[in-house]
Amino acid sequence: MSRLDAMRSTLEACGQSHLLQHIDGLSDIDRDALLKRLESLPFESLPAMIEQLVLAAPVAGGGDLHPAPCVCIKPEQACGSVDLIDAEDLRIRGEAMLEAGRVAAFTVAGGQGTRLGWNGPKGTFPASSVSGKPLFRLFAEQILAAERRWGRTIRWYIMTSESNDSQTRAFFLDNRCFGLDRRQIMMFPQGMMPAFDMKTGKILLERPGALVMSPDGHGGSFHALLVSGAIDHMEGRGTEAISYFQVDNPLAPVLDPVFLGLHADEAHSSGEFTSKMVSKAGPDEKVGVFGSIDGRLGVVEYTDLSKAEAQSTDESGRLRFAAGNVAMHIISTEFARRVATAGQDELPWHRAVKKVTHIDSRTGELITPGEPNAIKLERFVFDAMGIAAKPAILEVDRAEQFAPIKNATGTDSAESSKQMQSDLYGGWLEQAGVQVPRRGDGHIDAAIEISPLTAMSASDLEGVDLPSKIAKGDSFAC
Ligand code: UD1
Repeated sequence: MSRLDAMRSTLEACGQSHLLQHIDGLSDIDRDALLKRLESLPFESLPAMIEQLVLAAPVAGGGDLHPAPCVCIKPEQACGSVDLIDAEDLRIRGEAMLEAGRVAAFTVAGGQGTRLGWNGPKGTFPASSVSGKPLFRLFAEQILAAERRWGRTIRWYIMTSESNDSQTRAFFLDNRCFGLDRRQIMMFPQGMMPAFDMKTGKILLERPGALVMSPDGHGGSFHALLVSGAIDHMEGRGTEAISYFQVDNPLAPVLDPVFLGLHADEAHSSGEFTSKMVSKAGPDEKVGVFGSIDGRLGVVEYTDLSKAEAQSTDESGRLRFAAGNVAMHIISTEFARRVATAGQDELPWHRAVKKVTHIDSRTGELITPGEPNAIKLERFVFDAMGIAAKPAILEVDRAEQFAPIKNATGTDSAESSKQMQSDLYGGWLEQAGVQVPRRGDGHIDAAIEISPLTAMSASDLEGVDLPSKIAKGDSFAC
């Protein structure tokens, strides 16, 4: 049987024959690309996925949900069930891991960044408050600073997607990898999933011979790490822990010794999957929250948390579900391999209802829907917490670590992030004795930027040549 005939009968068996409708009119190259694409689809599980996730909407919530136990460093932090620990012990352990070269950085940068409205990979977005350094440069500078401090080459793995892989690679090359050695950076694209018509379950076509595809979620990173050879690459170089963070947060500490120390601390963690959280800013903040769901730790997305749950408070008046997910995790290489091989099917698919432009498969006519018409499916990395034996969650300070850029304006925009960056670095300058202007609401009234190459914390500013005063509305970068 020819390759085409084999695919024809596979598609017939799952009601997707329309995907080959235009095959006769395609060039040899396009025909081959279509067959390759179709051969990559998970046909064994497709009929069940369509029935359970596309044609039926699974009821969100409903499980037995409790606040997740968290580990805190500062007594004033409050996150439900609190376990106060000594950060210094953890820092020493984490630094030993860094000095031994056992940690790699991992950025998930495959998302489409639609909300931000930026025409390019999100990591190329100008994010710093004075010089407008792109997100990728800010992370690269952290890696360079960490290499200086801990005396080891730190490898950086970056997950892209089909739609931004070549642009991301070109951006790094055009910028000479921001001073890093090209060989210490490994980029690989994540997997893709088709979009389905929500009424019929049929896969949508973007144009004759091309399916509507989108990235398979950051949960696809386990599979992508495995099939790209990244896990082999890491293990071959003695990497035991992967420091995972999202591309959208300019304050994300790429390598945090305290966090690494907690991951390695048997009393709190099985050393498989460790996460960070910040206390939610309020019941309506659009972050997922850590919780114990039917006895397993995980994250409940804000869209799946009922209003009553989001607003519920404990005896002292604090939000019960306050542990906001900041999407920073330490994942052991061994655990990543296990999830990518044996555990992949345990990561559920999450459905998102979207408006998707496509063609009518019979007439070829372009359809731009006015209402949501399609389902996209994604896996989430934090669902792996439920597979780990003893995952730990560390509470950190929002002001120091979390200023994401997700939206074009308002909350979580470049503007709000830049203010948070200025607030943080302005505070460092004040600790170093510089007079810094503040507005009535307490925010710094100047744009301030400190490169990790100058200081990784306030105490690193000792000995740095600084002005005695910064004027209201001024910009200062060092
Ligand atoms: C995410 C988390 C949310 C958390 C918040 C913190 C999910 C589903 N939710 O929300 O719990 O509180 O961040 O900022 O993740 N990405 C890929 N490939 C994909 C999809 C996403 O690499 O297929 C990357 C994006 O490039 C981005 C990150 O994952 O860096 C976040 O994805 P996004 O879908 O924007 O999640 P949020 O809604 O921001």
